[in-house]
Amino acid sequence: MASTCLKQLLVLYCALTQVYSSNEWFNNVSTNLFDLPGNIILGGLFPINMLTSNLSERTMPDDITCRSLDVFGLGLSIVMKYAVDEVNANTTLLPGIKLGYKIYNTCRQPSVIVQPTLSFLTNKSTGLLSVECNYTDYETSSAAVIGPYSSEMVSIIGKLLGFFLMPQISYGATSDKFSDKTEYPSFFRTVPSDKWQVEVMVQLIKEFQWNWVAVIGSEEEYGQTGAQEFTKLAQKSSLCVAYQALIPVYTDPGPTIRVLIDNIKRTNVSVIVVFSLTDPAAAFFTEVIKNNMTGVWIGSTSWVKRRKLTSLPGMNNIGTIIGFTEKIQNVELLTDYTRTLFTKISEERKNVTHPPNNYDPSDPCPQCWSLSPANVSIVEDTAVQQEAFSVYAAVYSVAAALHQLLHCNNTVCDWKPGTTKVYPWMLMQVLKNISIDINGTNVQFDSDGNPNVGYNVIQWVWENSAVHLQNVGSFLPTLSIDKSKFTWHTKDSAVPVSTCSANCEPGQVRRVKGSHSCCFDCINCEPGTYQAKPDDIQCTRCPKGQWSTLRSTSCTEPTFEVLWWDSIESVLMLLAAALLLLSQSSVLLLFLRHRSTPLVMASGGTLTFVALLSLMGACLSLLLFFGQPTDVVCRLQLPFASICQTVALSIIGSISLQIFFVTEFPERAAPHISTIRGPGSWILVLSCCVAQAGICGWFVQEAPSLSLYMKNMEINFVSSFLTCPVEPQIGFALLQGLNVALALVSFMCTFMAVKPLHQYNVSRDITFACLIYCVIWVSFIPIYIGLNTKMKSIAHVSFSLTSNFGLMAAYYFPKCYLIMRKPELNKVEYFCTVLEGAPPTPPQDEPQPKTETESVH
Ligand SMILES: *[C@@H]1O[C@H](CO)[C@@H](O)[C@H](O)[C@H]1NC(C)=O
Ligand SMILES: *[C@@H]1O[C@H](CO)[C@@H](O)[C@H](O)[C@H]1NC(C)=O
Ligand SMILES: *[C@@H]1O[C@H](CO)[C@@H](O)[C@H](O)[C@H]1NC(C)=O
Ligand SMILES: *[C@@H]1O[C@H](CO)[C@@H](O)[C@H](O)[C@H]1NC(C)=O
Ligand SMILES: *[C@@H]1O[C@H](CO)[C@@H](O)[C@H](O)[C@H]1NC(C)=O
Ligand SMILES: *[C@@H]1O[C@H](CO)[C@@H](O)[C@H](O)[C@H]1NC(C)=O
Ligand SMILES: *[C@@H]1O[C@H](CO)[C@@H](O)[C@H](O)[C@H]1NC(C)=O
Ligand SMILES: *[C@@H]1O[C@H](CO)[C@@H](O)[C@H](O)[C@H]1NC(C)=O
Ligand SMILES: *[C@@H]1O[C@H](CO)[C@@H](O)[C@H](O)[C@H]1NC(C)=O
Ligand SMILES: *[C@@H]1O[C@H](CO)[C@@H](O)[C@H](O)[C@H]1NC(C)=O
Ligand SMILES: *[C@@H]1O[C@H](CO)[C@@H](O)[C@H](O)[C@H]1NC(C)=O
Repeated sequence: MASTCLKQLLVLYCALTQVYSSNEWFNNVSTNLFDLPGNIILGGLFPINMLTSNLSERTMPDDITCRSLDVFGLGLSIVMKYAVDEVNANTTLLPGIKLGYKIYNTCRQPSVIVQPTLSFLTNKSTGLLSVECNYTDYETSSAAVIGPYSSEMVSIIGKLLGFFLMPQISYGATSDKFSDKTEYPSFFRTVPSDKWQVEVMVQLIKEFQWNWVAVIGSEEEYGQTGAQEFTKLAQKSSLCVAYQALIPVYTDPGPTIRVLIDNIKRTNVSVIVVFSLTDPAAAFFTEVIKNNMTGVWIGSTSWVKRRKLTSLPGMNNIGTIIGFTEKIQNVELLTDYTRTLFTKISEERKNVTHPPNNYDPSDPCPQCWSLSPANVSIVEDTAVQQEAFSVYAAVYSVAAALHQLLHCNNTVCDWKPGTTKVYPWMLMQVLKNISIDINGTNVQFDSDGNPNVGYNVIQWVWENSAVHLQNVGSFLPTLSIDKSKFTWHTKDSAVPVSTCSANCEPGQVRRVKGSHSCCFDCINCEPGTYQAKPDDIQCTRCPKGQWSTLRSTSCTEPTFEVLWWDSIESVLMLLAAALLLLSQSSVLLLFLRHRSTPLVMASGGTLTFVALLSLMGACLSLLLFFGQPTDVVCRLQLPFASICQTVALSIIGSISLQIFFVTEFPERAAPHISTIRGPGSWILVLSCCVAQAGICGWFVQEAPSLSLYMKNMEINFVSSFLTCPVEPQIGFALLQGLNVALALVSFMCTFMAVKPLHQYNVSRDITFACLIYCVIWVSFIPIYIGLNTKMKSIAHVSFSLTSNFGLMAAYYFPKCYLIMRKPELNKVEYFCTVLEGAPPTPPQDEPQPKTETESVH
């Protein structure tokens, strides 16, 4: 029992000592925050203080004072100290070499940063900076410079350091300007270039289908370049920057911001990109809160995680804040280290009775004399935590470069104190190709000195009035976001809309209004044109042989409707035709059975059967109007239909001529009647048919074939009714005209004829039949002209059927009635006028006014 207890205690002790021993070097570090002597010195530039003197009162180059403390800069400088101390504590990284540093305050002022930079460039042995032609063989007092933080500062010293080819590794300068290696040859950075930030912003905006945005920048290197780059890329990506403005940095920004906010309101954007440093951003958002504005705010890396903004009262009312942070690791031991360091400082302080009261201008942080473990919050700040890795990685990449330059192995470096020289240009060459692993994260620089670091996309989420930066996506090298993690501060929590014009429907093109491509009217594509690509600004004409409807996105080959056999109209007409055929065949049968009776002989004898058959043929010919037309069908259609009618009508015509002959010239008729009725009729019928056949021949010759007609057809429809071309129309008129003329002649020959007394009135049948025929076809003309193609076809068939039926009904039905109901009248005497040419006996004792009127009608 006791032994197990002892064992457990032993294990616990071992564990404790191991944890302790790994960080044991914490206790050995120097308490001097800004100056550590060593074999190789790194220069550090941090914005530890803020300007307190009035620059416009500056008269001599000596009196700039920066006394108010910037805790963020101080925190980062502690990170550098930590990193150098850790490198020194590592026995394998730079064995036998002690790394030192000199950290200076930049004060974010051009007039302050030049002096420390010059001191880094002095001759290491003499501390002097002499003017030389050739600095190849010149060891500077610092081997490399870590910093400065802001792009503005880099733009001041970057070219100077570039002349000496002294490696400069910034942990915060993101302006893409420094990627230009001809201007900044020795510039490296451990934060991604704004080129990528702008890229990720544009991708994010496109992801949510926004295209109407405003861009606000701070009026210095970072904000100006960022806003410019964003606008440039936005234009390339067909986003529209509705408004772009800069917040002054060196003067009072208040009035400008008020104007700027009014302008933003006027443009109606709901997405605003703020590419700004922290202070201008804070001033801007203070005014935004005052104005009760809401929207989607897309923040650049410089401010989204800064406490100055997160603690601004009212920020939770302005809408959704999305930002980007570098994809980094936490520097885990930083807090422990700082606590140990501050404890040590406060212990050392006990040995000194009073603080150094004389102001030392080279000490950036006189307040640091009073640091205590309570101040560890300096490095626990979110912003410092976020930026810490960048500083840490910068120091480690220099250490790794030195490791390589001095050919170190785990135990020894190629280093002889006093004789080995570390030339900055040599270090720069090595640094270019360095690749280090920091606890699993690989860091290396591309040819432009940019690191392989991506972004995290974050959103501000309020929890009990405190901001929590929620990770909603990442970027390297493409954007991947989790849309479900976003919360929108809109009325219905939906993704807000920020477009100048609503999207057009398919089949509409955009007509841009004004100067922005995102503001447009939607124009419908007319029939015959179509929208070829979604972003087209003009409708495209359909290719030849194709057509489109209104608001189409494509053209189609036209489709053709025909009178299908099974359509309702067809079925009705076919039914009627069938009935007609049935009645015609019944009449035919009836006549055949009574073929030798006087009535049949009087109706034309053999010719009456020919007439009946041709009427049936005319009826059958209508079948050619149904179904898919073909070249052959179209050639036959009209000629067949017309010639059948011609046969019937010419036979009726020949009979009516006989009647005319008998009634008008009674005395001459009798001797010639058999000639007239026999060969005469045949010759007449034949010659009519020949005439009609001639017209048919000409018509067929003239009319285009269906396939040719379709080939030459102008396609300006997507669907149309296809019939055989009735061209030339005069042909159709002639064909039908001849038939009507025949009917008219028959009518005229018979309608004045006197009814023969006690005899069958053949002329009455003919008069009615022909009258009906003529009326039908004359009324056909105006109706036919006004109809569309489909109805023309239907009208043609229906009129043909009706006229056919009219002929049937008027000419044959009365005869059938007589055959069946009055067989006693079917005698030669009753038909002698027609049959024998006997002159009709004029009415004497039995006038029949009823029949007279009938025949006149
Ligand atoms: C701390 O420093 C002392 C004296 O300089 C040295 O003996 C000791 O090994 C150091 N400890 C560590 C952990 O480096
Ligand atoms: C700086 O000095 C100028 C001229 O003396 C004065 O007009 C200006 O108000 C001063 N600015 C500040 C911030 O004190
Ligand atoms: C020393 O540095 C090397 C190279 O970075 C690393 O692999 C090793 O883990 C470090 N040693 C310690 C004790 O941290
Ligand atoms: C500069 O100095 C180096 C070393 O002293 C020498 O090799 C080089 O030739 C010199 N360059 C010029 C242009 O004189
Ligand atoms: C730097 O100082 C050393 C020591 O005085 C001297 O030998 C060397 O020439 C100096 N280098 C330059 C480039 O002035
Ligand atoms: C701004 O948006 C509102 C609501 O979407 C709209 O009614 C108004 O016409 C827009 N104003 C301008 C100038 O586009
Ligand atoms: C903002 O809202 C507050 C309270 O709702 C109101 O008092 C104030 O006038 C509003 N400010 C503006 C500029 O609309
Ligand atoms: C290394 O990374 C792992 C996981 O990312 C983390 O748990 C660990 O604390 C890190 N170690 C150091 C020394 O940063
Ligand atoms: C403080 O001074 C005492 C005596 O002078 C010395 O023993 C102790 O080590 C000093 N402590 C520190 C932290 O320097
Ligand atoms: C350290 O903490 C004390 C008390 O919290 C505070 O008064 C002091 O300003 C802090 N010092 C720094 C440098 O932040
Ligand atoms: C390191 O290099 C030295 C000299 O080149 C050599 O003597 C030593 O064995 C090397 N150590 C290892 C661990 O490779």
